[in-house]
Amino acid sequence: MLTSRIVVDRDFVISELDRRVFGTFVEHMGRCVYGGIYEPGHATANKDGFRQDVLELTRELGPTIVRYPGGNFLSGYNWEDGVGPKDKRPTRLDLAWGSTETNEFGTNEFITWCRTAKVEPMFAVNLGTRGPDEARHLLEYCNHPGGTYYSDLRREHGYEKPHGIKFWCLGNEMDGPWQICQKTAQEYGRVAKETAKVMRWVDGDLQLAACGSSQRAMPTYASWEYEVLDHCFNDVDFISLHAYFRNDSNDVKEFFTVIEDLDSFIKEVASIADAVAAKRRSPKRIMLSLDEWNVWYKAHSPSDLRKPGWPKAPPLIEEIYNFEDALVVGGALITMINNADRVKAACIAQLVNVIGPIMTETGGAAWRQTIFHPFAQASRHAHGQVLRAKVQSETFSTKTHPNASLLLSSVIHDEATGTVTILALNRSTTDEMQLDVELRGLGEGRKVALASELHHTDLKAINSKAAPNAVAPKERTDVSIDKGVVSAKLKPLSWNVIVTTPA
Ligand code: AHR
Repeated sequence: MLTSRIVVDRDFVISELDRRVFGTFVEHMGRCVYGGIYEPGHATANKDGFRQDVLELTRELGPTIVRYPGGNFLSGYNWEDGVGPKDKRPTRLDLAWGSTETNEFGTNEFITWCRTAKVEPMFAVNLGTRGPDEARHLLEYCNHPGGTYYSDLRREHGYEKPHGIKFWCLGNEMDGPWQICQKTAQEYGRVAKETAKVMRWVDGDLQLAACGSSQRAMPTYASWEYEVLDHCFNDVDFISLHAYFRNDSNDVKEFFTVIEDLDSFIKEVASIADAVAAKRRSPKRIMLSLDEWNVWYKAHSPSDLRKPGWPKAPPLIEEIYNFEDALVVGGALITMINNADRVKAACIAQLVNVIGPIMTETGGAAWRQTIFHPFAQASRHAHGQVLRAKVQSETFSTKTHPNASLLLSSVIHDEATGTVTILALNRSTTDEMQLDVELRGLGEGRKVALASELHHTDLKAINSKAAPNAVAPKERTDVSIDKGVVSAKLKPLSWNVIVTTPA
């Protein structure tokens, strides 16, 4: 039996957890919009054509903010195509994904969907084929009350009140050669600065994110972040990070260490942003928006990315998630939460069908993929201040990581309710772990309000339409608490949630 110990103190706080770390992403790609959130002919469709089975699962998943409309799609998108009477909207070639875009769904439909799902929109402006001019027009259309060309156009389109969108991404993955109109760091840094400037002149109450590298493995990684921020440091609030985790060696231990890599990635980007601040002797801190992250490696072949013949909403990158993917997603969430002082927004990519926690059949059922569960549980239970934990745990080693902790954990304290939530991942492939968590200064009279475990004997187990609950959390009643010390046995390869409240 392994033994692990966590000590936290209510006064030792990393940061308040920004609930926007539980964001997700809807791109015009594959069946994410069409056949995912929007399918007018579907048996569950409401008057707006939104699938209510997907809406219900979205509410259960619990995202707080949703990024839209891309992704690579963004860099060729004309936002004007997606507003106004549907029968007048042009059908276009989407060069990013080799698809036909009907524009039946656009800005206003997405805002209506967000209001229905009770999530905040995170919008992105096209800095590929377009620039500051179109960005300011879109912002005027969305956020200006009225009395100008674009704000009155919105009102004409039936949306009297401004949408009030606060969070905007300045382009998408502009360093990538796959991007429509890729840019150098200098080209992008300049246009990001000028776009941010004019957008703030339209609406002074925005949060703006500049594109970081499209992945940590890019040859220009780090120099890209430095140069871009050197141009637009004063004009933006966030730098974005994108991270897709792979299990190419089909070795769960190696796969787990993508979580250590994510931690390094976060700390490196924060350091680079702080180096740019230091050059200016500035106290300003640029925050991190991990606005695309997930496991994605199985559905990654050319035929997963693009289908011949310019189809409408073809199935693209429909990754089927297994149990080990869910463990990695849980570990990634723990890492983001433990970096709550810098990671203030994050979007699991994407919401439905396209590398999504929700899967649907067009015209048929919807179900939860394995990765749905750690996300939904963390979003439901992690509120408040992230505590700085002292963790003792045995370690494991891999070719690339000689000293990785078997236990990964976060402890979050909600001062308003007194709730303390423990998220814990036992990464041992063989051994059960005795976990003791000492909650100092949090009151000895506490009770375990909820304990659950996500475990399966088969790492490759999946959920499907026929077996939608093959991998699902189970409640347990054998977790104890005595004088402020929580004790639990964690199965090998298990994701665990323990919620304690004042008795
Ligand atoms: O989420 C799928 C794609 O991955 C996005 O369009 C792009 O930004 C990233 O490369």
